[in-house]
Amino acid sequence: MATDTLTITDNRTGTSYEVPVTDGTIPAIALRQIKTGPDDFGLMTYDPAFMNTAACRSAITFIDGDRGILRYRGYPIEQLAERSSFLDVAYLLAEGELPTSAQRSKWEHDVKYHTYVHTKMIKFLEGFRYDAHPMGMLLGAVGAMSTFYPDAKDIQDPANRYIQRVRLMAKIPTLAAFAFRQSRGLPFEFPRNDLDYIGNFVNMTFSIGGKHEPNAVLQRALEILLVLHADHEQNCSTSAVRAVGSSHVDPFSAVSAGIAALYGPLHGGANEAVLRMLDEIGTKAQIPAFIEKVKHGEGRLMGFGHRVYKSYDPRAKLIKRVADDVFAQTGLNPKLEIALELERIALEDEYFISRKLYPNVDFYSGLIYQAMGYPTDFFTVLFAIGRMPGWLAQWQEMLLDKDQKIARPRQIYTGIELRDMP
Ligand SMILES: CC(C)(COP(=O)(O)OP(=O)(O)OC[C@H]1O[C@@H](n2cnc3c(N)ncnc32)[C@H](O)[C@@H]1OP(=O)(O)O)[C@@H](O)C(=O)NCCC(=O)NCCS
Repeated sequence: MATDTLTITDNRTGTSYEVPVTDGTIPAIALRQIKTGPDDFGLMTYDPAFMNTAACRSAITFIDGDRGILRYRGYPIEQLAERSSFLDVAYLLAEGELPTSAQRSKWEHDVKYHTYVHTKMIKFLEGFRYDAHPMGMLLGAVGAMSTFYPDAKDIQDPANRYIQRVRLMAKIPTLAAFAFRQSRGLPFEFPRNDLDYIGNFVNMTFSIGGKHEPNAVLQRALEILLVLHADHEQNCSTSAVRAVGSSHVDPFSAVSAGIAALYGPLHGGANEAVLRMLDEIGTKAQIPAFIEKVKHGEGRLMGFGHRVYKSYDPRAKLIKRVADDVFAQTGLNPKLEIALELERIALEDEYFISRKLYPNVDFYSGLIYQAMGYPTDFFTVLFAIGRMPGWLAQWQEMLLDKDQKIARPRQIYTGIELRDMP
């Protein structure tokens, strides 16, 4: 008998079945043969929120949640954060290798020359109310871009996929900065080709009267944060991009679904929630009372806990170092003291220890963004810029994967079986 198999005995019928075990998984479809009779549909698995289901094979990102490991295409996140540019990482995620210098020149050039958005996009953004959340604006704007690039529907052509990838990478900083300016009532600042990716974004965001004094330390810190956010395998927003993309819609529409997913407070919105929580706590003296409330189920310690990491999130470790560089430039943020104390207390508390709840990437990122001058409701937009390479790489991998079909989960129907209209 082959050893890489699983024998399942159906105690309802006494029949045994052998199903293959590959890469630590069994094909769920193999369970369908397990039936109690000819009218039985066959066995399914019930796995809400995909707690124990691999939905794809992926060669992009490796995470070991127990050991706190994160690697893109095999490279440790620590090395990439220290030595790579964000655009290099974007290239790596999509192409599988870091670029050669010729490839880097072409990639950087292509992205630089696609940063402008159609002027009608400006009218579109101006249609939002003055108090529109920038994530709402971003998700609407990215979805709307599909109407400007109808050629993006040709997803089977590799050259076409490349150009849409370039467009999305190039235009998301422009749209993000425009959303920022719109909510401040500031005139839009257009992309500049003499600046690099990060410098251009920061300039479009903060330039006043055509002038902005760049701060190299803060720009490098932002770049590291984007690298740390670039991919995180099958998280909620990436799964949304894959699921929506599996209908073969254009990538602008698929990515806007990812932005929508990221907007939620349990996902990318958590960094915003952390800042609101720190404001609510107010002083170090209030921390014990706040922790007690959390332990009694009244709210969560935002920025703590993760579906995959059951030890310290490696990104949070790196972000703490970035925070030191940033605060050395900007001066200390009093909220940092509250955050550090909160972390110290939580990491010694049985409630958090037993549930393996550690700070995640969002715990410190918001504080850094705030120190850089971004308003709280803009934090998730920065996350979206960072995650764009991951969404695009995963979207392409899904399209090229022969195992994939349109995403369509099953259900267990719990409603009324049949009734007549009154
Ligand atoms: C990230 C998160 C959604 C993962 O959730 P999950 O894997 O579904 O974990 P669960 O919600 O099942 O939580 C497991 C247990 O830990 C508790 N828990 C999880 N995160 C917690 C938090 N941040 N604060 C307090 N308790 C928390 C739950 O109440 C639950 O306790 P119980 O077993 O007594 O019921 C969750 O940890 C969370 O809400 N964190 C705060 C939001 C956040 O920072 N999100 C950013 C993620 S990068």
